[in-house]
Amino acid sequence: MDRGVLEGDPHSVIEGMIIGGYAMGAHEGVIYVREEYPLAVARLSEAILQAQRADLLGKDILGSGFAFNISITKGAGAFVCGEETALIASIEGRVGEPRPRPPYPAEKGLWGKPTCINNVETWATVPVIVQRGGAWLSAIGTAKSKGTKVFSLVGNVVNTALIEVPMGTTLADVVNEIGGGVPAGRVCKAVQTGGPSGGCIPAEKLDLPVDYESLAQAGSIMGSGGMIVMDDHTCMVDIAKYFLGFLEDESCGKCFSCRVGTQRMKEIVDRISKGSGSEEDLRLLEDLAWMVGETSMCGLGQSAPNPVLTTLRYFRDEYLAHIRDHRCPAKVCKELITYTIDPVICNGCGACISLCSGSAILGEKNKLHTIEQAKCNKCGSCLETCNFDAVLVN
Ligand SMILES: Cc1cc2nc3c(=O)[nH]c(=O)nc-3n(C[C@H](O)[C@H](O)[C@H](O)COP(=O)(O)O)c2cc1C
Ligand code: SF4
Ligand code: SF4
Ligand code: SF4
Repeated sequence: MDRGVLEGDPHSVIEGMIIGGYAMGAHEGVIYVREEYPLAVARLSEAILQAQRADLLGKDILGSGFAFNISITKGAGAFVCGEETALIASIEGRVGEPRPRPPYPAEKGLWGKPTCINNVETWATVPVIVQRGGAWLSAIGTAKSKGTKVFSLVGNVVNTALIEVPMGTTLADVVNEIGGGVPAGRVCKAVQTGGPSGGCIPAEKLDLPVDYESLAQAGSIMGSGGMIVMDDHTCMVDIAKYFLGFLEDESCGKCFSCRVGTQRMKEIVDRISKGSGSEEDLRLLEDLAWMVGETSMCGLGQSAPNPVLTTLRYFRDEYLAHIRDHRCPAKVCKELITYTIDPVICNGCGACISLCSGSAILGEKNKLHTIEQAKCNKCGSCLETCNFDAVLVN
């Protein structure tokens, strides 16, 4: 979302920062942006030059005596560098690791000076609030969450897009009205909000208004504004494993609880996804999740339990199916599924053989094909290739 704003309307962010600098008496602004977003960097750089030429940035802006300039720092893309103290360390050329607060950046931030850190979307909204007034903004949204929010709507939804909606819009409206619902033949199972450390909200709760308070009550967060729609072919144990893997990789390792806790949680969920977990594992997982959330220093560790806790809260049956029945209901977890070919339907067209990455399919042209289970690596190509629905997954 932020990249979209930086690429599409960098002037709004620059204008917001100039107004913020004026209000706070600050003379230096820094935009921290990932190096992997070269178009955003190029458009921002050009917009800063244009603002300088128009006398909107510089030593004496429009003869007002107010000085303000903006520089860009390119970050190498570590997730934790979005945490404010890690971000400051990264700009100063140190390792991007969070530090304990207080002192807060507002007191002692970049180069030891008071520093205000805000999100791209916040800065881009400042000019329009100044122009139209606080009352105008407050009229949009809910009692506590004002204004609008940009979301990145992706996943199993017909229209994927960056969208801007008033706070309090229901998840159902976002998924069904704006997103056009899940593709035909599929059913919405959950919506994941908040980015990697967000939570999965089940389809039964799609009437939830999207605002800070409601999301928190449901066990999720607004976070970065990511919104992933998941259909009935999604395994929630696999999803929890995926996000834990990301968080394990991105943990800076400074706190023992976050460093080791995310690893242990990932190991347990991995074990469950392979059908080797126990019910005791679920209790351990909940204890660990609680401990990691309560004892980690920064937002990454504090929110890392969300994917686990929400999937356990809303999709416990799915964990139990993996544990008790060694079955993955969504037919995703490789260790728990088997590919076979229906002898009645298969017409021996041979399309699956050439794409089989395990050389596991046997059969002559126009004759029944079969799968040698010992060689099958569960890549799923045969299922995707067969035009006759002859490949079965159980
Ligand atoms: C692990 C972690 C990653 C974050 N990543 C980002 C990010 O990519 N972009 C961002 O604007 N804020 C990110 N934040 C939040 C910022 O630290 C900060 O709180 C926020 O930008 C404040 O802006 P706002 O009050 O205007 O929303 C992250 C926080 C944490 C803990
Ligand atoms: S919570 Fe995790 S990411 Fe944050 S400082 Fe501790 S170890 Fe690093
Ligand atoms: S693609 Fe389908 S129908 Fe053709 S050989 Fe393979 S399983 Fe049989
Ligand atoms: S799942 Fe992959 S490896 Fe297994 S039979 Fe099908 S194509 Fe071959």
